[in-house]
Amino acid sequence: MNHGADILLGLQWGDEGKGKIVDVLTKKYDVVARFQGGPNAGHTLEFNGIKHVLHTIPSGIFHENAMNIIGHGVVMDPVIFCKEIDKLMDLEPKCLERLQISRKAHLILPTHRLLDAASEAAKGKNKIGSTLKGIGPTYMDKTGRNGLRIGDIELPDFLDRYNALKAKHMHMLGDFVPVFDLDEAEAAWMAAIERLRPMQLADTDVLIQEAYKSGKRILAEGAQGTLLDVDFGTYPFVTSSTTTAAGACTGLGLAPNRIGDVLGIFKAYCTRVGSGPFPTELDNDLGQAIRDKGHEYGSTTGRPRRTGWLDLPALRYAVEINGVTQLMMMKADVLSGMKELEVCTSYTYRGETISHLPYSLEEDLLEPVYTTLPGWDEDLTGVTDVNDLPQALIDYTRFIEQETGVPVVLISVGPDREQTLWRA
Ligand code: GDP
Ligand code: IMO
Ligand code: MG
Repeated sequence: MNHGADILLGLQWGDEGKGKIVDVLTKKYDVVARFQGGPNAGHTLEFNGIKHVLHTIPSGIFHENAMNIIGHGVVMDPVIFCKEIDKLMDLEPKCLERLQISRKAHLILPTHRLLDAASEAAKGKNKIGSTLKGIGPTYMDKTGRNGLRIGDIELPDFLDRYNALKAKHMHMLGDFVPVFDLDEAEAAWMAAIERLRPMQLADTDVLIQEAYKSGKRILAEGAQGTLLDVDFGTYPFVTSSTTTAAGACTGLGLAPNRIGDVLGIFKAYCTRVGSGPFPTELDNDLGQAIRDKGHEYGSTTGRPRRTGWLDLPALRYAVEINGVTQLMMMKADVLSGMKELEVCTSYTYRGETISHLPYSLEEDLLEPVYTTLPGWDEDLTGVTDVNDLPQALIDYTRFIEQETGVPVVLISVGPDREQTLWRA
């Protein structure tokens, strides 16, 4: 029987290290497919001294054996996408041969970015902290049935469709003063559309179904993280797509009974970029020390990431929502040198102890309850044998396994491909 397509996704607020692990895993897969999100994502890979950040292109692109698919759940900014291709060409001149793009994926127009900026400006101090890549407005047009799709560029009336959507956006923008030169942005966008035309535009849902039926191994790559999911995340401080396992089904055309393993990635601590609740946040020197040591600055926007202790109620919630079968713990090296580590195991909520994530995460209602575990001193970045990991880290990992009921199969001790230790 076919094992099913595996899904790899983030269990926190994004930036868990998905790009690195997809790259590490791709040698075992025939197909790697991004299922949602867009250029709000920044997935970092490091190997042979090269650091590479991908936004739209799946993180399996550096492997000759795999077909990479941009699924229809993704929203694409053609300008950003073409820049990604240009950067890749030096390293992977044949990358376009192994890249298939869904015709059903929606296009981000320059005016979607203006709408994003206008929406954030209108929210004032309640702003979401969006990456301002036009993600929300593009998904709104998709569900509002107004969107422009990549397949539309092959239609004779594409320009009419573009102009109609732009006109609608201009009307919505009213007297909002553009934050960039729209004519210039539009010219660059149209030029990028021309570059898309000869690329492999495909009905990728069919490709994936054929791959599944012929026994090919498929890895679905998520963007963002579970706590940014539009339904399950810390709404409204979320992104506009389904970042959880269900998103792989809708975003690629994979039936639920064709899913194999769900690989859930989490950092040994927590980070969040943008606004919104963060119960275990360390808004102090210790938080700054973690930010410095973990280089916690956004891969897409360069913004400093907020940092905090591992939040187990949130992790358990993410495990359940996604049906996670294997956990992968990232950035264990960043915690080296701390005498003690705090782990949030439950919350006090309106005076009661609860062990789940409640509807409202407002700070004055919710207080994390911590368990203190011993830290470790050893530098982990050069460890190559899992048996050489310090006992305190093994105990930390076992504690997480006990609390979640899911095995931690991988511990990552640095950004490079090689700094990856398998426990199984
Ligand atoms: P993604 O969005 O989930 O792919 O994650 P990002 O690439 O945005 O952020 C993860 C950051 O941590 C990147 O800069 C990675 O190079 C880096 N990274 C990944 N794994 C590790 C690790 O185990 N240790 C350290 N120190 N850095 C890591
Ligand atoms: P990867 O795939 C971390 C955050 C933004 C903001 C909120 C909404 O690299 O893990 P949006 O641009 O979607 O309107 O922003 O979501 N956000 C991310 N945070 N990693 C990401 O992607 C993110 N993509 C969006 O900071 O708070
Ligand atoms: Mg990222």
